[in-house]
Amino acid sequence: MVFRYKLHKLPDRYRDAIEKSQIGLAPAGEFPYIKRRMSAQNHSRVGGGLPPGHLAAFLAAQTAAVNRALDRFLPAASAKPATIHRAMRYSLFAGGKRLRPALCVAAATACGGEQSDALPLACAVECIHTYSLVHDDLPAMDNDDYRRGKLTNHKVFGEGIAVLAGDALLTQAFEIAARCRGWPRYPHQQIILELARAAGSLQLIAGQVADLEAEGKKISANQLRYIHERKTSALLCGSVRLGGMSANCSPAQLEALTDFGYHVGLAFQVIDDILDVTQSSEKLGKTAGKDQRARKATYPAIVGLAASRKIAERLTQRAFDALRPFRGSAAALESLAEYLLKRDR
Ligand code: IPE
Ligand code: IPE
Ligand code: MG
Ligand code: MG
Ligand code: MG
Repeated sequence: MVFRYKLHKLPDRYRDAIEKSQIGLAPAGEFPYIKRRMSAQNHSRVGGGLPPGHLAAFLAAQTAAVNRALDRFLPAASAKPATIHRAMRYSLFAGGKRLRPALCVAAATACGGEQSDALPLACAVECIHTYSLVHDDLPAMDNDDYRRGKLTNHKVFGEGIAVLAGDALLTQAFEIAARCRGWPRYPHQQIILELARAAGSLQLIAGQVADLEAEGKKISANQLRYIHERKTSALLCGSVRLGGMSANCSPAQLEALTDFGYHVGLAFQVIDDILDVTQSSEKLGKTAGKDQRARKATYPAIVGLAASRKIAERLTQRAFDALRPFRGSAAALESLAEYLLKRDR
């Protein structure tokens, strides 16, 4: 098995964040829940997920709610200087799948929270994600012409404005989060810290740096996992954790959500790499086959398509396992994990 990882080696920041935010948690270095799961034998889904057809309705409802909220949070397209606000809105409303916001709200629901409490944090995460895509597409990075079925930001507004639109979306995320209230277990400062860490130079940016530096090189599966953990899993995991925090979740729930988000996040990037090989540009809304042309380090490139699919399935199984403590009350999260594995775009 090429892709072996140790659950107790979850990134330190997760343990730190949990330990610092909660009273009565395990001391540093201990992550008992995760260790317990390592010996779990039963590899099956937990509660069966949402009834058939309900996930599509859930996704549509969350997308509509997030779009309305983002529209309220962002400066009007006509606000001076209009160019930057048009550019921000262009990428933000280009038709992204809104999976991180959906995960955020689903995590809140699993912990007994309200969509309305999670929504601002879901919007903040989507702003960070969209900024990362605008910059990822720049000629200096992946040099992509299409994103979300439309021309990339720099193709429409020019590189200078695209850089600034990314900067502005990242900043907007923190403004939105700063306007939220904190929760008894998760004071305001911790919410901001969670976003900053997921997006910062030790996580998302670290992954993007390593991704660029790995171009054209032969790297190991371990090095590739380092890239995926950071460039993609960190923000997905942060989305899920923030959803839990918005429900004032218990320490045990936060641990379970962290475990879930970490594995779903890794699976997400493995599938993204697979889709780049197997799907058309029309279907993806971005240029297919680019990874091979740019000699990117990806799972299909390192272990082939069939093994990559198996890795994604195993990671998704780990994510399902992480939901056991919710005893079936995390149906939306469970269905989302399955959908992310089976998605074709
Ligand atoms: C694409 O993310 C970038 C990755 C981290 C793989 P999505 O596939 O969620 O992109 P959108 O938001 O739907 O455009
Ligand atoms: C992008 O990964 C990750 C981030 C933007 C942080 P990719 O470069 O694989 O994403 P796509 O394929 O361009 O959407
Ligand atoms: Mg990239
Ligand atoms: Mg890219
Ligand atoms: Mg990709």
